[in-house]
Amino acid sequence: MITLTDIAYVRSGVADLETATRFATEIVGLELVTPTEVGVAHLRADGRHHCLALVEGPSGVISSGFAVASADALDAAETELERSGISVHRGSPEEARSRRVREFIAFDDPFGNRVELVSQQETVARPVAFSRGAGITEFGHLCLDAPDVHEAYRFWSTRFNARVSDWLGDAACLMRIDPVHHKLAVFKGESAGLCHMNFQVGTIDDVFRNWHFLVEHDVEIEMGPGRHPQSGAIFLYFLGPEGFTYEYSFGVRRIEDDASWVPRTFDPAEPGSIDMWLGPTTRPITQPQLKSSQPVEAPS
Ligand SMILES: [Fe+2]
Repeated sequence: MITLTDIAYVRSGVADLETATRFATEIVGLELVTPTEVGVAHLRADGRHHCLALVEGPSGVISSGFAVASADALDAAETELERSGISVHRGSPEEARSRRVREFIAFDDPFGNRVELVSQQETVARPVAFSRGAGITEFGHLCLDAPDVHEAYRFWSTRFNARVSDWLGDAACLMRIDPVHHKLAVFKGESAGLCHMNFQVGTIDDVFRNWHFLVEHDVEIEMGPGRHPQSGAIFLYFLGPEGFTYEYSFGVRRIEDDASWVPRTFDPAEPGSIDMWLGPTTRPITQPQLKSSQPVEAPS
């Protein structure tokens, strides 16, 4: 069993780095970390050095990163994955440096989502210099696509410490790796990809202020403001460049008494099961996964 201690980052390929970076800073509000690498924009939201890396090149998600506790835990994870027949790539020092981690391994989940496990992700001590007062408090969760969410749960719950918090029928599996209701979600989708990346904001007012800001700036709102009955979070999904969906949310449930939590199943066709305020619901747009054989890193 591999213990994921936290989510670490999303790495996404963009054909137009300047436009994607401008959106991530001026619209989403993230801090652009002083660039040290040609063709890579590191974006910061919390204590992590970055939680989103935009990499110039083919458009599509490159990988989703999760933290493990130590170098030893990473070695053990590598052995365990290889023993179960999963092919694992050990990151080079240059690749690890670009991710601001000491070491990492990469592999594909059964559906082709590229996953990276990292040890010693860098923490930055100074406060985040947000580009805009969106009220972001932290990188909240990431959501992947898979054609079968039950199969995906089998993968994440047998090899990893992920536990289902709630089901949305066959449409979604919301999983926790710590007391937060979900830090990892899998939505039903035809093929691998990143469904969305979530940022928590500090208050309900931030959600609504951001909503008005996004509308004023002609950003496509995909869904919300609304409230998910599963996590209790007040959400707002919106579309960034190159098919990358961002989400702001506030008030996600914490499951402190892990043993007594019983996962619930909601029928997505039942009114209110996605938005208990009964607003219009649409499935967020997924950024497709780049094949790991494709050259995903820009030449430097
Ligand atoms: Fe979400």
